[in-house]
Amino acid sequence: MSNPLFPPDFTWGTATASYQIEGAVRDDGRGPSIWDTFSHTPGKVLNGDTGDVADDHYHRWQEDVDIMSELGVGAYRFSVAWPRIQAEGKGPANQKGLDFYKHLADRLLERGIKPVLTLYHWDLPQALEDQGGWPARDTAFRYAEYAAILAKALGDRIDTWTSLNEPWCTAYLGYASGVHAPGRTEPAAALAAAHHLNLAHGLGLQAIRAELGEDTRCSVTLNLHVVRPATDSDEDKDAARQILALGNEIFLGPMLEGRYAADLLEDTAKVTDWSFVQPGDLDITRQPLSVLGINYYSTSYARRVQPGQTSHNTGGHGDTGFSPWVGADTVEFLDPKPPLTHMGWNIEPQGLVDLLTGTAKRYPGLELMVTENGSAFPDVLEDDAVHDPKRQDYLRQHIQAVAEARAAGAPVTGYFAWSLMDNFEWAWGYARRFGLVYVDYTTQRRVWKDTAFLYQKLARTGSLD
Ligand code: FCB
Repeated sequence: MSNPLFPPDFTWGTATASYQIEGAVRDDGRGPSIWDTFSHTPGKVLNGDTGDVADDHYHRWQEDVDIMSELGVGAYRFSVAWPRIQAEGKGPANQKGLDFYKHLADRLLERGIKPVLTLYHWDLPQALEDQGGWPARDTAFRYAEYAAILAKALGDRIDTWTSLNEPWCTAYLGYASGVHAPGRTEPAAALAAAHHLNLAHGLGLQAIRAELGEDTRCSVTLNLHVVRPATDSDEDKDAARQILALGNEIFLGPMLEGRYAADLLEDTAKVTDWSFVQPGDLDITRQPLSVLGINYYSTSYARRVQPGQTSHNTGGHGDTGFSPWVGADTVEFLDPKPPLTHMGWNIEPQGLVDLLTGTAKRYPGLELMVTENGSAFPDVLEDDAVHDPKRQDYLRQHIQAVAEARAAGAPVTGYFAWSLMDNFEWAWGYARRFGLVYVDYTTQRRVWKDTAFLYQKLARTGSLD
C-alpha cells in the first residue's frame, strides 16, 4: 500500500488563463484586449506569435474538460476574458460572453471539478488602456463593475473567486520594463498601477460579497518572490530587502495589513510621491481573504553594487527586469545557477518550502493554495507520446516541497499545476511549453505528456510512490 502524502480533501487542480488558451478573439462580441494589440505589434512577442487561435479552447472547451475529468483533478483554475464580458470595459454585459463561462462552469460542476475563477489574468480591454490603463484610478472602478456583473451572472457556480493574477506582472512588466502589454516604460505609472490594482482587488471583493454574501470564498493570487541575499553582508541583505519590498510588500501590505511599508515608500521616493493613494483607500484594499493563492517557479539572488555597475538586470518574465525602473538601480541579480528550465529559471524547491512556511508564520490561520507551479522544457512529440523526465522531476520535487511545508504546519489546501496544456506563454509566444498535455498547434491535437500520467496518479491517490 502506498502511503499518501496528502489527505483526500487536498485539492489537486490545473490552471490556465483566458488569453493564453482561448483564441477566438473576434467571436461573439469580444472586444480587443491589450494583449491583442501588443502581440500584433512587431517585435513584442517571440516569432510574432499572437493569441488569435492559441489552443482554440473557446471551441474545444468540452474536450478540455474531458481531459481534466480523465486526469481526475478536483478543481480548475481559469480566468475570464474581461473583453468578452464588456468589449470596451464598461457598460452592459455581453450575454454570449457570460454564457461561455456559464457553460464551462456547469460542465465542470457536472464532472465534480470545482471552478476556481480568476477575474483578471492580464487581458485588459484595450479601450480602458486607451483611457489610461491601470495607472488611471478609474480602471479600478470599472473593474468593480465588471466583478459585480460576473458575481451576478455566475453566482454560486464558482467555488473560489480570485480577484487578480500576479498584479506584480501587470504593474512592473506592463508599465515599467514594458516586456508585457501594454508595453509602457513609465516607472511612476507602474507604481500607480500597483496601487490601483490593490484598490481594484478591494473594490472587486466588496462587489462580489455584496452580491453573493459575506462568506463567499474570495482570494487573490500573488507571485510572491523568494529573493535571497547573494552573501551575508548587510549590503546584500538590504538589496534583497529592497526587491522584496517592491515585489511582495507592495501587495501584501495593502491587501492583508492595510498599509504601505515605510521602506517601500522611501526606496521609491525618487520615482513617485505616492499621491495617488487617497484617504480611505487602504481600508478598501484590505478585505478578508478566505485563501491566499501563491504562484511559485524559482528563486533569485540579489546583491548591492555601485551606481551604474549593474550588468544582470535583463528583461523578461522573471524577477530581474523591473527593478532599475522603480528605484532599485543598485541591485544586481546573480546569474541563475543550473539546473535551469527552458525559461532560464533556476530550480530550487526549497524556495517553495520557505515561501509557504514563511507566509504561514506571518499570517497565522490564513489558508494557502499553490495556484501555479510548473516548468517549461523543450518537448518532442514522438509516436504519440511526449517523454518529459525533467518536468516529472520538477513536479516531484515541488510536490515534496508542499508536503514538507504542510508537515511544518503551513495550511496549504491545494496545488494547481501550471498548466493544463501548452499555451501562449506571453512574450515567449508558443516557444515555451508548460503543459501537462502537449498541444500540436498545427492540428490542435492534445497529447498527454508523461507528466500528465504522473499527475493523474497524484490526483487520484494523493501520492507519487
Ligand atoms: C505566471 C503566469 C502564467 C504563466 C506562468 C508561466 O507568471 O501567471 O500566466 O505565464 O507564469
